[in-house]
Order: sequence, then C-alpha cells, then structure tokens
Amino acid sequence: MAKHTCLMIGGSGKAGGWIREFRSDFNDRIEIVGLADVKENVLKAQGEALGLSSSQLFTDFNEACASVKADFCGIATPPQFHSPAAIAAMENGMPVICEKPIADTLDAAKAMLRTSQNTGLPCTIIQNYRYADNKQELIRIRDENRLGRLQHIVGRYACDYRKHLSWGKLWRHEMDFGLLFEASVHHLDMLRFLSGGDCETLIGFGWNPEWSSFKHYSSGYYLMRMDNGVHTSYEGNSSAAGIINCWRSEYYRAEFEQGTVEIAGGNQMTVHRVGGEKEVYEAPGIRYHGHLYLFDEFLNWLEGGEPSDTRIEDNIKSFALVIAAMETTVDGEPKHIADLLGNLNL
Ligand SMILES: NC(=O)c1ccc[n+]([C@@H]2O[C@H](COP(=O)([O-])OP(=O)(O)OC[C@H]3O[C@@H](n4cnc5c(N)ncnc54)[C@H](O)[C@@H]3O)[C@@H](O)[C@H]2O)c1
Repeated sequence: MAKHTCLMIGGSGKAGGWIREFRSDFNDRIEIVGLADVKENVLKAQGEALGLSSSQLFTDFNEACASVKADFCGIATPPQFHSPAAIAAMENGMPVICEKPIADTLDAAKAMLRTSQNTGLPCTIIQNYRYADNKQELIRIRDENRLGRLQHIVGRYACDYRKHLSWGKLWRHEMDFGLLFEASVHHLDMLRFLSGGDCETLIGFGWNPEWSSFKHYSSGYYLMRMDNGVHTSYEGNSSAAGIINCWRSEYYRAEFEQGTVEIAGGNQMTVHRVGGEKEVYEAPGIRYHGHLYLFDEFLNWLEGGEPSDTRIEDNIKSFALVIAAMETTVDGEPKHIADLLGNLNL
C-alpha cells in the first residue's frame, strides 16, 4: 500500500508530538507533504527535519489547504482553529483527523460535522485516553457481564496546576471554561465510553478557588443520567493538592450488580466482590495505545476499513457534554443533550 500523504496543520506542542509519532511509528504509512503553522521558527525547524521546501510551508492554513493536495489533513492547533481548518481541508478534498475538543463552540462543531457529511469525507477526533489497557479491560468486564449489570460510575480528575503556566500554555490558564474544554472533554467522553450509554441529562456546578492559577473556573462537579439507565458522576479539579489523579492516572470506580471495579494509573485492575477477596491484576495489553491507536484506526478507515469509533458523528455527543456542563454552570438548570443535538442528522 502506498504511503498516505499528509498536510499537517500545527507544528509544535501537541502537533510536534504527532509529527514525532508519524515518523517513529508510521513512517511506512504516512508522508508529510505540507505543513502550516503561524510561527515561522516552527515552520523552519520542522521543515528542515521533514525535508520540506519553502513551497510546502505555510503560515496560513487556508492557503495550505488550497495548495497542498494530500491524502488527509492532520490538525493539532488550539481549539478555535480546528473547525475552520477542518472545513478548509474537507472542502479541498482531504479527510481530517483532529485533536480534541472538536471546536470552541457548538456551532463551529456542527459546521465541521455538516462539512464531513456534505463532502462524504472521513473526519475523526482524538480521544486517546480510551485506548489504555485498563479502560479496555473495564469495557470487557462490562460487556462479558463478569460482575452483572452496571449501576453507576464515579470519575475523578485532579491535577495540581496551582502554579501559573503549570498547564503548559498561557491560553489554557486564560480561556473561559478551560477545565471543561481542555480536560473534562476527555473525562465526559470516558464516562460515555465506560458506561456504554449516551447522556440524556447533565447537571452540575463549576467554581474557581481563590488560589487558582486560572482566570476562569478550574474545578467542577457534574452528574449525568445515561440513556441505558447508568448514572455517572465527575469531579474535575485543575487546582488539586494532596490526592492527585492527573493525566493517565484519573480514577474511575464502576459499581456493578455483584462487585466494584477501580482503575487509576498504570494497568492495575482492582475488583471487589461481595464476600470475596479483593482481586488485583494487570489488564491485558492492547496493540496500540493512545494517539497511535487512533492514527492506525484512521489510516485503516482511509484504506477501506471500519470508520473510527471517535468519528465526528459520534464524538459530537461527547463535545455536547462540555457545552451542557458550561451552560448548567452558568444557569444552574439541568441540560437535555437532545436539545443541543436535535437538529443534526446523526
Ligand atoms: N489529546 C491529548 O492528550 C492532548 C494533549 C495536549 C493538547 N491537546 C490538544 O492539542 C491541541 C493543541 O494544543 P497545544 O498545547 O499543542 O497548543 P499550542 O498552542 O502549542 O499549538 C500547537 C501548534 O499550533 C500552532 N498554531 C496556533 N495557531 C495556529 C493557526 N491558526 N494555524 C496554524 N497553526 C497554528 C502553534 O504555533 C503550535 O505550533 C489543542 O486542541 C489541545 O486540546 C491534546
């Protein structure tokens, strides 16, 4: 199979990580033939590393999308550029793989979805934390009915970002609802994934402790009722001190009919059965983890395989949870997800 050519939008930060992984793990399947970034120094450094000529480097993604005829477009810029870049790419005939969150507003996310539907081009969103050994094992426990029916799941994210700039980029500390758009979008998606249901109703609160390093709310509690009867609760905290459940170590507790499963960092599964000994074991390994899984799945889709599980038609159901959480934080009212997604053809 010939290599898939790629126009990459974004060249450093997370995008730099994509480029490293494309080269280390997918060198036989992906060739970057164009790069767009607003920073000249990033273009220069990555251009040299990738062996690209100046005609393959762009400071404007619209120009890049109009000029580069690649087999797909990868997007890993800050969120407000995802939708315009993805729309430009698809309108120029390129399927898209894009970082989370889909966009910065629901309207922008819907426009991106509609462009994918109108052009018939694949568009998928990164949800890397689904592809971890312990999360996949929890899904097997649920689907194989090993502990009976699932009642509810508790999720906890807690990072110590009390120091200014400790969360990598200034924009994360300055944006509105940074917890929801940059962090909870992963965890609310995870609660959908682990529960096996889509959210019907979401309600909760957000706040900013006085010692927060964020301009806007760093913390929140949110509850969801899923359409399969499972309930979920979420504690999100970017001002955590003491007990930390930061990236790749978030805590999830699933309450089943005949026992409880706990997961956090590493691959350890802890199963508590009524009347039984606590069982602790390592989850079986999966072939690809995180981004690598999603890159492989997307390339397979381009080669005629199954659509990505986190394609935009599905992932907008997770993105809508961020919007619902934002709205309930503002007005205190429960949010019905169908009201947010009602006019879409999903
Ligand atoms: N899935 C994950 O685990 C994970 C982790 C970190 C970040 N992210 C996501 O990755 C995305 C990027 O985050 P980041 O921290 O790398 O951001 P960043 O600020 O480092 O930006 C990434 C790159 O995009 C470039 N860029 C900015 N505006 C641009 C534009 N208009 N056109 C072209 N290039 C532009 C920047 O110069 C930079 O090189 C965000 O959506 C973020 O949520 C995901």
